Amino acid sequence: MELIKVTEQKEPHVALIELNRPKELNALNPQLMQEVRDALIALDKNEAVRVIIITGNEQAFAAGADIKQMADKSAIDMLLLDQFTTWDQIRKTKKPIIAAVSGFALGGGCEFVMTCDMVIASETAKFGQPEIKIGTIPGAGGTQRLTKAVGKAKAMELILTGRFLSAEEAHFYGLVNKVVPKEMYLHEAFALAKEIAQLSPVAVQLAKEAINRSFETHLDEGLTLERKNFYLTFASADQKEGMKAFIEKRKAEFKGQ
Ligand code: HXC
Repeated sequence: MELIKVTEQKEPHVALIELNRPKELNALNPQLMQEVRDALIALDKNEAVRVIIITGNEQAFAAGADIKQMADKSAIDMLLLDQFTTWDQIRKTKKPIIAAVSGFALGGGCEFVMTCDMVIASETAKFGQPEIKIGTIPGAGGTQRLTKAVGKAKAMELILTGRFLSAEEAHFYGLVNKVVPKEMYLHEAFALAKEIAQLSPVAVQLAKEAINRSFETHLDEGLTLERKNFYLTFASADQKEGMKAFIEKRKAEFKGQ
């Protein structure tokens, strides 16, 4: 594991996964997501583990998918890359996953957090789907999960403008369970994890599965459409311009092509 750190028993029955690409604000490239998938599969099988916490660092949970690795890709490259099969392991994991978030949780980072089961946020956390600013759209569930979490009007505003939500706003809209001072977010995530870890792991997993089912009835269809539309943006000149402008640190000029 190069881009994440895994501690199986950080506390009894509680495992910790730390995303660890600090220089790139934990931008989620395929290798990092494959490491997350492999760790989740192993922890799901490990009988000593009952609850999993995933975190980044104080500055960022993750600032999105890796724009530098995507910038030049065609729609067909993106389709063939099939990266979401890896991402799917987050929602397939049977044990509860708590995201402990400080700093940026943007784009794919916000989608990653929303795929987890519960969220503890530092007061510095910032959530958002800024893909529209680089000529693309959310591709890892943002259009579906954010809409379910915050309602249609707010989801439209956030996804169509790319505005960020503060931790307090995210709490108000039900996106996160609790907001605490920066020094406390990991501690609070562990407190929640330890409470759940004392309970029957069988009942916990069955309850998790049932709650997710209430959510997923139309989710598969929504995710399929979102993925197709996300790939389609890579056929546009606007996506090329948007990502190039980010890398060159200038404002993008979109022409609608
Ligand atoms: C690649 C990234 C990155 C990203 C930051 N970096 N986000 N590299 N992909 N998503 C890099 C920067 O290029 C920079 O590298 C370093 O991390 C520090 O970032 P700065 O921009 O200098 O920091 P700051 O000025 O504090 O601004 C922080 C920020 C900004 C507001 C989070 O970095 C930002 O806007 N990032 C992009 C957010 C975004 O658009 N996310 C959505 C991505 S698309 P250098 O080498 O210059 O030091 C997406 C689609 C998901 O997620 C689809 C499913 C997979």
